[in-house]
Amino acid sequence: MRRRLICGNWKLNLGPASAAALAGFLRERLAEHGDVEIAVFPTALSVPGVLAALAGSDIGVGIQEVAAVPSGALTGANSAVMAREAGCRWMLAGHSERRQFFAETDEGVRDKIRAGLAAGLRPVACVGETLAQRQAGEVQSVIRRQLDKALEGLSPAQTSDMALAYEPVWAIGTGVNATPEQAQEVHAFVRDWLRSRFSPEVAQGVRILYGGSVNAGNASKLLGCPDIDGALVGGASLQVGAFADIVSAACAGR
Ligand code: PGA
Repeated sequence: MRRRLICGNWKLNLGPASAAALAGFLRERLAEHGDVEIAVFPTALSVPGVLAALAGSDIGVGIQEVAAVPSGALTGANSAVMAREAGCRWMLAGHSERRQFFAETDEGVRDKIRAGLAAGLRPVACVGETLAQRQAGEVQSVIRRQLDKALEGLSPAQTSDMALAYEPVWAIGTGVNATPEQAQEVHAFVRDWLRSRFSPEVAQGVRILYGGSVNAGNASKLLGCPDIDGALVGGASLQVGAFADIVSAACAGR
C-alpha cells in the first residue's frame, strides 16, 4: 500500500520567525501522525528556521522552486544542491503559479526535476488543467502533455523517488475543489499513464496527490478515493488545526 503523503505549500507567506513558529506548532500537534508522511514547503528565506524548528522530527522540509543548474550567474534563483545541503528533502516542480506567473515551460519543469533528482531531492511534480481547458474537453491531453515532458528521460527508479500532484488550476486558491469523482478520474488517468510509460510496479508505487482548495471539511472524501494518495495543501496548511485535521483524515485510511 502506498504511504499517504500530506504536503503544505506555504507559498509566499510567513517570514523566518512566523514560519519557524508554525513549524514548532505543527511539530507539537502532529507528534502522532500514524503512517502518514508530512512535508512543508516554506519560502526559501524561511527554510533554515523551519529546518531548525523541525530538527529531529520526521516532518520533511522542501523548497518551492529550484533552478535547472546547481550554481552560476542566475541572480535570484535557488539551487537544488544548496537546498539539499541546507537540509531540504523535497522540492516542488511545475506548480501552476510558476507556470502562470513565471512563464515556466514544460521543458523548464523537466530540467528542474532532473536537477532536483541529481541533487538528491524528491520532486513533487504538479500537473493540472485550466478551467478553459476542462470546458474544452482537454483535461487528458493537457495532463498527458505535461507528464510526457516533465518525466521525459527519467528512469523507473528516479520516477519512484517522486510524487505527482494533480492540481486543477481552477481549484487552486478558489475555494472550489474538484469533486472526489473529478479528481479520482484524473488520478486514475495519471496512474494509467505511469503504467504504460514505465511499468505496473512504478504505477503502483508512485504517490499521486490532489491539490486545490483541500481543507479540513473535504479532505476525508478526497483521500477516500482509491488513487488519491495524499494532498498538496495551500491555504489550509497555514492553519495548524486545519492542516492537522487533513493529516488525521489521511490517517483514517481509505
Ligand atoms: P490551495 O493551494 O490549497 O490554497 O488551493 C494548493 C496549491 O497551490 O498547492
